[in-house]
Amino acid sequence: MKKPSLRCLINRTLTALSLLPLSLMALEPNDSPIVIAHRGASGYLPEHTLAAYTLAHSQGADYIEQDLVLTRDGHLICLHDLHLDPTTNVETVFPERKRKDGHWYAIDFTLAEIKTLSVHERLRQRFPQSTQILSVPTFIEAVQLIQGLNQSTGRTAGIYPELKQAKFHRQEDQPIEAPFLAALQALGYFKKTDEIYIQSFEFDALKNIRALTDVPYRLIYLINGSDETARKMTGTHLSSIGGVVQGIGPSKSLFSKIPDLVSRAHMNGLKVHPYTFRADEGFPNGSHESFELELKQFILSYKADGLFTDFPDQVRAALNDLF
Ligand code: G3P
Ligand code: CA
Repeated sequence: MKKPSLRCLINRTLTALSLLPLSLMALEPNDSPIVIAHRGASGYLPEHTLAAYTLAHSQGADYIEQDLVLTRDGHLICLHDLHLDPTTNVETVFPERKRKDGHWYAIDFTLAEIKTLSVHERLRQRFPQSTQILSVPTFIEAVQLIQGLNQSTGRTAGIYPELKQAKFHRQEDQPIEAPFLAALQALGYFKKTDEIYIQSFEFDALKNIRALTDVPYRLIYLINGSDETARKMTGTHLSSIGGVVQGIGPSKSLFSKIPDLVSRAHMNGLKVHPYTFRADEGFPNGSHESFELELKQFILSYKADGLFTDFPDQVRAALNDLF
């Protein structure tokens, strides 16, 4: 009898695997995706606070995210928005300092002023919004905290900073890339093997990082889930961005449009870290019955390399069950 070719054997195996229920599909342990704590353990504590980062570390996050913007005096602070008003009491402390568009911009305030503010929870269903006992950390403080916990607990979590709105910072005559790289040097991140990913929605910002340093940092290009983005995700496009970055961070909504996104990305040497997995959000249009099933789909079926989540403990538990 003719021996089946290697390609034929691989195809048969893949077909057999695809017929297995998700829960029975076995993956190699080293396929386990990384857990990225989105804004810290922000499902439990106000986002981008030292408390949220500490909890994320103790919940087993592999990486802890910091969104970064600049203050007027050039300090990097951990804040998701350009504005202070969604998550602090700036409106009460500095009522006169809003811009014409009704927002209080971090870049209009010194670090000393921002340190007088308290941070509150963004979402009503989470930590009590009336509790105002936390403050806005600098990037340096956030990283020193994580490095300290790495040392005192013996478990290493990496950092996953995002440069927010690099174009806006340039327009304000305060480019964010150079102070960011200076901070990384000061904090001791200057080797390829250091536990860090750098992310941005702006490809130009990532190109600038590449141009400004010889350190081969791992860069992740964030992308939205629009139809237009879905149309762009061809092999040619992925190959061209692969010349600059090591991975993409897609909105999870992109996967219903491109279920084979991970294999397309892998063919071009790119990792895939989708965002954002939230146990307390509804699952619209019957997309999933539960958070657990959503995680299973992204881990076992879509085969994501990492997951941004507000609930690192629950993603860690799901991975422990599956691997
Ligand atoms: O950085 C990944 C994810 O955090 C992107 O969304 O808006 O939460 O920064 P955002
Ligand atoms: Ca982010």
